[in-house]
Amino acid sequence: MMNAIPVLAEIDDSLTIDPEKIEALITPKTKAIIPVHMLGNPCKMDRIMEIAKKHNLYVIEDCCQAVGASYKGKCVGTIGNIGAYSMNVFKTLSTGDGGFVGVTDEDLYERAFGFHDQGHKPSRTGVEVGNRSILGINMRMNELSGAVALAQTRKLKGLLATLREKKALLKSKLQGLPGVGFRTINDEGECATLLTLLFETKELAAAFCEKAGTAPIARSGWHVYNNMEQLLEKKTWTDAHVFHNCDRVYEKHMLPATDDILERAVNISIGVVDKGLGAGTGINILSTEEEIEKVAQNIREIVLSL
Ligand SMILES: Cc1ncc(COP(=O)(O)O)c(C=O)c1O
Repeated sequence: MMNAIPVLAEIDDSLTIDPEKIEALITPKTKAIIPVHMLGNPCKMDRIMEIAKKHNLYVIEDCCQAVGASYKGKCVGTIGNIGAYSMNVFKTLSTGDGGFVGVTDEDLYERAFGFHDQGHKPSRTGVEVGNRSILGINMRMNELSGAVALAQTRKLKGLLATLREKKALLKSKLQGLPGVGFRTINDEGECATLLTLLFETKELAAAFCEKAGTAPIARSGWHVYNNMEQLLEKKTWTDAHVFHNCDRVYEKHMLPATDDILERAVNISIGVVDKGLGAGTGINILSTEEEIEKVAQNIREIVLSL
């Protein structure tokens, strides 16, 4: 929408952006880095902030799947310049739909507010017509959803504590299996909404998935660039949009390291049960110790049979 051109970067085995692959992609036109705290796991923000500082870039944190996560004691979304959080039905907390944005300075706040509220900058307090000094769109979350969001937010600490406890229990029961480990967790402040198994080969992952009735993340759905038809085909809403005419090429399998990791990765749900993330199987936040043992036993048996 802002005529910005997305440049894709490889991930590492934390399933978040690989900071060591960022600098080679930076050009004089680069304006921002967008780390996505994917599947509740915070990105390696120290290194990302170091690179951003060196090249004078904004950092926009996509915290949509990591509401409540922290990196080295700081909430995700408060480390870069802007943090975007989702509260749609699949997320740690939900208002049905909606989300919020956190910013680190007053000017960014006014701009973000104006953009979502018909260009009102300075921001207005109600429904009055004020000064629309920038071009904005109309994306206000209604007050009922806002009230639900506030109530939900009060549950966050308790939810995360329970998720972390259940995930630690399930993970402890799956240690030391042959041919499979876990993705790297960048900070223990992660959300623990999912447990990601990382197999040594894609063949092992595929065989596991067939028996478990699930799919590796590579085949899980629209969070994977290979499945983003609007990106691959550079679809826009108007022919005049820069993205439509830019010469950057997007194609399937353009990120071999990412493809290799995602073919070997399988999500087990802890609190987020979302087939779109490949997490169609696992436990939930209410699972008892006996239920967790049963799920662990099933996974162990399948892995040992491969
Ligand atoms: C990583 C990531 N970014 C952004 C979004 C968009 O969030 P929303 O649906 O609230 O607009 C999502 C939601 O699926 C997401 O998972």
